[in-house]
Amino acid sequence: MEKEKIKALYFDKIAKLNEYNKAYYDQDNPIISDHKYDRLKIGILSLENKYKFLKNKLSPTKKVGYKPSGKFKKIKHKIPMLSLSNAFSENNIVDFLKKIKNFLKLSNDYKIEIIAEPKIDGISASLHYINGQLKLGLSRGDGITGEDITLNLKTIRSIPARLKGSKFPENIEIRGEVYISKKDFKNISNKFANPRNAAGGSLRQKDPLETKKIPLQFMAYSFGFVKEKLFKTQSEYLELLKNWGFKVSQHNGVFTNIKDIMKNYTELENKRSEIEYDVDGIVYKINDLNFQERLGYVSNSPRWAIAHKFSSTKAISKILNIEIQVGRTGALTPVAKLEPVNVGGVIISNATLHNEDEIIRKDIREGDVVTIQRAGDVIPQVISVDINKRSPGSKKFIFPHKCPSCNSKTVKEFNNNTKKKDAVTRCPDPNYSCQ
Ligand code: IVH
Repeated sequence: MEKEKIKALYFDKIAKLNEYNKAYYDQDNPIISDHKYDRLKIGILSLENKYKFLKNKLSPTKKVGYKPSGKFKKIKHKIPMLSLSNAFSENNIVDFLKKIKNFLKLSNDYKIEIIAEPKIDGISASLHYINGQLKLGLSRGDGITGEDITLNLKTIRSIPARLKGSKFPENIEIRGEVYISKKDFKNISNKFANPRNAAGGSLRQKDPLETKKIPLQFMAYSFGFVKEKLFKTQSEYLELLKNWGFKVSQHNGVFTNIKDIMKNYTELENKRSEIEYDVDGIVYKINDLNFQERLGYVSNSPRWAIAHKFSSTKAISKILNIEIQVGRTGALTPVAKLEPVNVGGVIISNATLHNEDEIIRKDIREGDVVTIQRAGDVIPQVISVDINKRSPGSKKFIFPHKCPSCNSKTVKEFNNNTKKKDAVTRCPDPNYSCQ
């Protein structure tokens, strides 16, 4: 490809990425799945790797997230608010620990302390306290520059306006997650797709009185800039946060071996539905802050922490409409188009309804509020319908009797093994030439 064409392709991809970032970070309304987003980002990175002349200041390698919206004053973070790299298996965690010990030149059997904290699925914020007084509250923005949302953050009851006690640093940025509990979300679930969107949306209200109407909460878990660090480990810091009047997760724990780390992971994943807020994994951090400092950062994330994502998970969303897709073998598959929802860290906007029988059996209709489940890479499924949320005008879904692609009358073949009609509806085109 010639240079100009490559450049055009590259800038087109960057423009798309910016549009998706804007929807996700600025409008709290993701418009593509995480998977497609990652593919686009990887596409940009591989073009950059291949063609050195493409390196550009707009590159996603240079930033986290999206630059903040124009609604609020922009303020540069004293220390960037980065993201975490992800782990999906025990092996990933073993590798993480190995690399850390290598980097720190510790022997393989050194019992390094790891603090495990639930990964709360909310919106991160940074609170700047000077002499114990809350002076400034910022959103993460693009990680480098945040938005001044101080007035909105001040409406949150679990954010102290003044730190309790007298033993606190003269100047400290306390970081954590703004979230809405599952219970509170139930009352406003008609307005937002999920608790995370609700938290993001209400934090960015221009009028703090609007923010105050939504029962937001704050859970503290880290720090940015600190003048006079009075603590040597993350667990000590969490204790201090409690003394200063912050909410800290009750599910934090310190471990020194992979067996206990995995046991804690399984226990928390099983307990997940009982936890009062959405949790999409566990964050592991090296407990010793000296070690953290030595480990430092790689591009967008710290070397001293990793997020261990949960595998299978459920979420609630709304069916916008039901589409019929024709597969390569002529099978007609009904697909529920959903209001995008974060399911274990992945944005889901489609769920398979399998076939006509499944729709009849569960009486799934357009406009229904449904529970969906995602497990690994399997296509998400609709598990149940919340009949109480069904609107009075709702109508049963009529499965089409014509192929949506070529308009031929569809068939259900007789299955000689089961001696029954197949559950799958097909386009009868014998050559599978239907589009
Ligand atoms: S520590 C350098 N601890 O996860 C990043 N983050 O993908 C240090 N999060 O933006 C973050 N619970 O919004 C940390 N216990 C926890 C967390 C947590 C949720 C979020 C946070 C961050 C994202 C990283």
